[in-house]
Amino acid sequence: MTLTGDSDVYYDPFDFEIDNDPYPVWRRMRDEKPLYYNERYDFFALSRYEDVSPALTDWQTYRSGKGSVLEIIKANIEIPPGVILFEDPPRHDIHRSLLARVFTPKKMMALEPKVREFTTRCLDPLVEGGEFDFVRHLGAQMPMRTIGFLLGIPESDQEAIRDRLDESMKLEDSKDRDIYEDGLLDGSIFADYIDWRTKHPSDDLMTELLTAEFQDETGTVRRLTHEEILTYVMLLAGAGNETTTRLIGWTGKLLAEHPDQRRQLAADRSLIPNAIEEILRYEAPSPIQARYVARDVELYGQMVPEGSVMTLLNASANRDDRHFASGETFDIRRKIDRHLTFGYGIHFCLGAALARLEGRVALDEVLKRWTDWEIDWANAKMAHTSTTRGWERLPTRVS
Ligand code: HEM
Repeated sequence: MTLTGDSDVYYDPFDFEIDNDPYPVWRRMRDEKPLYYNERYDFFALSRYEDVSPALTDWQTYRSGKGSVLEIIKANIEIPPGVILFEDPPRHDIHRSLLARVFTPKKMMALEPKVREFTTRCLDPLVEGGEFDFVRHLGAQMPMRTIGFLLGIPESDQEAIRDRLDESMKLEDSKDRDIYEDGLLDGSIFADYIDWRTKHPSDDLMTELLTAEFQDETGTVRRLTHEEILTYVMLLAGAGNETTTRLIGWTGKLLAEHPDQRRQLAADRSLIPNAIEEILRYEAPSPIQARYVARDVELYGQMVPEGSVMTLLNASANRDDRHFASGETFDIRRKIDRHLTFGYGIHFCLGAALARLEGRVALDEVLKRWTDWEIDWANAKMAHTSTTRGWERLPTRVS
């Protein structure tokens, strides 16, 4: 099937060069091919806000039950119960409400002093140096410590866990690799820890998960099995770490490129919450949400057959001029009419409050120490993973 017609728009999500800056091709897709079809990998894509936003809420048509990552849907992997990102109702609702019970925005907000402490511990040793890496020294450390603290994972084990997670999500060079080979994360790294926590209960989220009772799909009231808890923990560690790492990297990069807006922030730190919202809109760390199409759909006069894979380009929708005035312009004072960075509808990010808090605290603490910075581009490096977009190394000269 070809839907490209006489347009030469080509979008390959596995091409590192495109991934470095996909915005020009996404703009062309919005303008010329609002329903795009990629023959090589056999997937469709929607890129306009007016299409992505309703599709994210239409879970009956655009389903997550086979995964919400392109390679995972294509690989046809059996998804263990509890990976709510990859579930549809009713199973999704049962697991999500259980997780939402222990993972409340109130609990997230109460974490602020801890988030500040972790951030301070990352930054204080670097104050004299004149150089600091937004990703390695802060983005890759603080979110992991925060999630680790929430779950009660000892600090001594956190780094090894993060390295394992990062390794399992990395894409090899797309040219030499069958992109559909990969499976889900290996969760064995947490198993011993869950056994230990069962014998030594505490007041952390892990203990709450171990003791929470809920009604399962068969109507039985019961506790989670160890396997289900393992799945939750992997989900939280996987969904909450790398995304926030990328947010902190984008914060450093965008404010290096917009020194006037950085100075405004340094002079008036009450602008920080809106600035973080604009950074989230402008550079969505999780830019593509994939879905399995559960019925034939007609879009732009073309048939998308049942069984197809649809990618919803939320990062492209976030810059759509049809929805955001001058969508390609970065403006920390912009009044934002709902960006799609945390998704929308039943899968809306459960950690959004925590991610926003971490972003705000990180920027506030950086600005307390330095108000001028410049990226050392010769040594900066993008990370290419199948789920997030952003920086792996962002060394910065600071003063
Ligand atoms: C779901 C983005 C941080 C936990 C999502 C979704 C997006 C997203 C786009 C929806 C996926 C879909 O529709 O298929 C982000 C970004 C973050 C972030 C950009 C940081 C800047 C976090 C944190 C946590 C978290 C800190 C928890 C510690 C989750 C969970 C879901 C989710 C559990 C699944 C919700 C469901 O399927 O019902 N996130 N996230 N996220 N996120 Fe986040």
